[in-house]
Amino acid sequence: MGCRIIGCGKALPALDVKNDELTKLVDTSDEWIVTRTGIESRRVAVAETGTDLSVAAARQALGWDEGGYSERRVDPAEIDLVIYATITPDAMVPSCAGLLRRRLGLERAAAFDLNAACSGFVYGLSVAESLMAACAPNAAGASGRNPIRRALIVGAERLSRITNWPDRNTCVLFGDGAGAAVVEWDEERPGILSSFIANEDDPTNALTCPAAYDSPVPFDNEGVSLRAEEHDDSLDAVDEELGIRAHIADGEPRQVLRMDGQKVFKFAVGALSAAVDVALERAGLTLDDVSLIVPHQANERIIRYAAKKIGRPLDFFQVSIAHRGNSSAACIPMTLADAYENGRIKPGDKVVLVAFGGGFTSGAVVYEA
Ligand code: UT7
Repeated sequence: MGCRIIGCGKALPALDVKNDELTKLVDTSDEWIVTRTGIESRRVAVAETGTDLSVAAARQALGWDEGGYSERRVDPAEIDLVIYATITPDAMVPSCAGLLRRRLGLERAAAFDLNAACSGFVYGLSVAESLMAACAPNAAGASGRNPIRRALIVGAERLSRITNWPDRNTCVLFGDGAGAAVVEWDEERPGILSSFIANEDDPTNALTCPAAYDSPVPFDNEGVSLRAEEHDDSLDAVDEELGIRAHIADGEPRQVLRMDGQKVFKFAVGALSAAVDVALERAGLTLDDVSLIVPHQANERIIRYAAKKIGRPLDFFQVSIAHRGNSSAACIPMTLADAYENGRIKPGDKVVLVAFGGGFTSGAVVYEA
């Protein structure tokens, strides 16, 4: 028995910002960004809310729309739990999970948001699996608790809202998007074989962002963007929305991500390989049993270093950073959807999802597809 991933999906904002566009804003070059990070372009949500993107990603994961991967169509009343991982919620109250629940008609679901930075989706998956193991209808501790048989887990971000656009050290790295997965408790088959979630102190505040951020896309009571009709993809429109040139002229805005890249890089390479080791050991497996690793997408060089560290080629990892950049909690579910769409995950395969990020958080999940 186990908690199986039965669907996943992804959604990206319409606006594609290529590296060359960023050279008009800060002193950088396509060549620097590509060689140091592997990123060629990223999506920026000008008209879409995070909830809009999550609805689209979740519909694929639930088997309602084309795209992503889905074993079957899941009815709204089958979902018992929604976990929405983000550091850029559309609102603090109601939760984005609650907005998603309403828009998808998931009337039986309990719903909450979760912040574990870039590790949010892996944390969400681990929490959902633990709740299911305790609260699935036949589980030992089921009585007296919410029965949880199926959950929707989302990672969604609009990092463009907290990106420090005048800072070339960070503004080239981030992108927006949403990914989702549906998990189901299966009495017969295994699914998640082990999980590991961890925090380490970040004593020098190598990666921080203050509590609130400016200019959310206006939206109605269900989290639907009020801008969808007035979509303008030009760089000027993005600039008007995010105030990039004004920030550059006036100095750094307050509510932005700040990062000491090299410190985070070092933490990331170590945390990635350590999390894979612990999760595999807990599952009683070795790397030889694994078909694919789906890592957080912060920098292609981090994945290359980690690959070297564990003695595997880059191809052992699903790498999807080139046209998306780092979209924090959204990276892993979007990358997982890519792996299924590209036919890289087949029934019975053992797959590792591994994350690291601000906090410092890290985590890994090993599952059998
Ligand atoms: O998901 C959250 C976790 N985040 C991460 O994991 C990010 C981890 N860190 C990184 O990915 C890398 O450290 C960065 C991509 C952020 C930076 O790459 P780096 O190879 O560590 O570069 P650096 O910070 O050592 O900077 C090297 C040079 C500096 O110039 P000087 O001082 O040598 O003259 C920077 O000012 O590159 C310069 N630089 C740039 N030049 C052109 C930094 N950013 C840029 C840029 N364009 N965008």
